[in-house]
Amino acid sequence: MSTAVLDNSPSVPEVIPTFTATLIIRRFDPEVDDEPRWQDFDVEMRGTDRILDALHKIKWEQDGSLTFRRSCAHGVCGSDAMRINGRNRLACKTLIKDLDISKPIYVEAIKGLPLEKDLIVNMDPFFESFKAVQPFLIASSKPDKERLQSPVERARFDDTTKCILCAACTSSCPVFWTDGQYFGPAAIVNAHRFIFDSRDEGSEVRLDILNDQEGVWRCRTTFNCTEACPRGIQVTQAIAEVKAAVLRGKP
Ligand code: SF4
Ligand code: FES
Repeated sequence: MSTAVLDNSPSVPEVIPTFTATLIIRRFDPEVDDEPRWQDFDVEMRGTDRILDALHKIKWEQDGSLTFRRSCAHGVCGSDAMRINGRNRLACKTLIKDLDISKPIYVEAIKGLPLEKDLIVNMDPFFESFKAVQPFLIASSKPDKERLQSPVERARFDDTTKCILCAACTSSCPVFWTDGQYFGPAAIVNAHRFIFDSRDEGSEVRLDILNDQEGVWRCRTTFNCTEACPRGIQVTQAIAEVKAAVLRGKP
């Protein structure tokens, strides 16, 4: 009869191979630069690293003045949207191995909002549009118990509850780039979240706001917003549903 033999030898930690990635970052320091400039950095990375890790490495080991926003580092807070190889993405959700590392990786700030420094833009216009659509529950009645909602009613606006206000959609929209007044996809997504909420009584006000000349009718259905959204929200569809609600009223 054979007896199983336990192998007590210490396990050798797996070595994750490294490679050199070149990041070309669009820098801008308002105190010294008249115009943004491109600067390249070589960084030693692993396949499991993300663009955010590369930016941290550059900041901590090569140039402490590199400026960018980030907070959660896990795709929740929405603070690190940037253009990576010409596409809006979250730096913390973009694995370097998924990019073509035989070529430099271009990183720059999102477009359409005032550039403040390096990868940071002024988000005030974005949040002004968000606030303008009244993104909160409006209900005049005061029930003596919780406001009930069926699973079907809840599912009606489930997609648009996922927004993390990263601005990837709005800053990928060509109408937003050329027309500083357009509310932009993110504001409409957040209006959708309440317009289609069965408990809300403020949809008429929101639909009136979005029927304005800077509202939903500026959308040219280019789908850039849907492609850019890191949460997979069907942004263009949400805008189309709000357009239909403007024409026919809340369904
Ligand atoms: S809809 Fe998507 S891309 Fe737009 S702000 Fe929300 S999470 Fe970001
Ligand atoms: S750092 Fe929070 S979403 Fe990327």
